[in-house]
Amino acid sequence: MKALLCTRWGDPSALALGEAASRPPGKGEVRLAVRACGVNFADTLMIQGQYQVKPPFPFSPGLEVAGEVLEVGEDVHHLRPGDRAMAVCSYGGMAEEVVTSAALALPLPPGMDFITGAAFPVAYGTSHVALTRRAHLEPGETLLVLGAAGGVGLTAVEIGKRLGATVIAAASAPEKLALCQRYGADYVINYTTENLRDRVKTITGGRGVNVVFDPVGGDVFDEAFRAIAWEGRVLVIGFASGRIPQIPANLALLKNCAVIGVFWGAYSMNDPAVLGDSLRTLLDWYAAGDLRPHVSQTFPLERAADAFYALMNRQSTGKVVITMG
Ligand SMILES: NC(=O)c1ccc[n+]([C@@H]2O[C@H](COP(=O)([O-])OP(=O)(O)OC[C@H]3O[C@@H](n4cnc5c(N)ncnc54)[C@H](OP(=O)(O)O)[C@@H]3O)[C@@H](O)[C@H]2O)c1
Repeated sequence: MKALLCTRWGDPSALALGEAASRPPGKGEVRLAVRACGVNFADTLMIQGQYQVKPPFPFSPGLEVAGEVLEVGEDVHHLRPGDRAMAVCSYGGMAEEVVTSAALALPLPPGMDFITGAAFPVAYGTSHVALTRRAHLEPGETLLVLGAAGGVGLTAVEIGKRLGATVIAAASAPEKLALCQRYGADYVINYTTENLRDRVKTITGGRGVNVVFDPVGGDVFDEAFRAIAWEGRVLVIGFASGRIPQIPANLALLKNCAVIGVFWGAYSMNDPAVLGDSLRTLLDWYAAGDLRPHVSQTFPLERAADAFYALMNRQSTGKVVITMG
């Protein structure tokens, strides 16, 4: 099969199209013909050897796909060959076929196309588990989302509104903030031109926000940490800025606030039911018209490097998706 191959750690220009072998699914696995693969910031880290998971060379990046079921392994009963499905994988999605755990493969709902399906699980799943299971966001609370027009950021804005919070979206450009408003943000802050902490204090009448959702880290984390309310919660989602912030423990004490780590993918090993239950809830919300997945750019597999650069150069909003065939 045709596959995008990473043969050494490096930037996207080192990725190349090549041939790779597929394999039959083992017990509890499913083999899919990939039609589309979502691009995640984690992919950009993985090919550079900067991600928690370091697959042996050569490997294909790609953590989430949508396509057609070709074959199911022993003990798989919820999918059959020919079904349309979305699936999460450890890596390997940027190829014509992938074999992955059936526990994280779900039928595509009627009306959802492959591109939308491939853009769905990681971003919505991460934001949903973070805001519900980890932060226990309550209706009426205030939620500050950093990097709010990005993949996970925009889904956090949408889910925050769905959960009844007042949402403050923060991002680096006016067009990104306008998108967040179209997705329901009540207030917007441009953190490249405005003082984040001062604006949050003004918006919240000096109280600060109850929950911070932070996929960015670095300087904006430092600012946001000083804008947290009494008994607030800070969700550590990622470090797209490239700097892992240091947490001032004295401020956590003074504010009685909690710093909460989120590693969505790790539930697949520790408690897979959490991910399955969350995705089923999200698909119900999608079916009810409550979620509007936003894909800003698509690229064919041959131009996968451009898809990676779109994320690395902060040029994308919502999701970027690679299409196959
Ligand atoms: N913990 C988990 O389980 C989990 C799951 C999914 C993703 N993540 C993490 O969440 C972060 C975002 O992932 P994503 O897939 O949503 O990526 P994305 O779509 O590229 O969004 C990242 C956002 O970060 C902001 N940003 C600030 N500085 C940046 C820089 N130097 N380079 C790139 N972006 C920068 C950008 O917004 P502005 O231009 O508006 O600042 C961008 O929209 C990553 O760190 C990723 O690893 C974690």
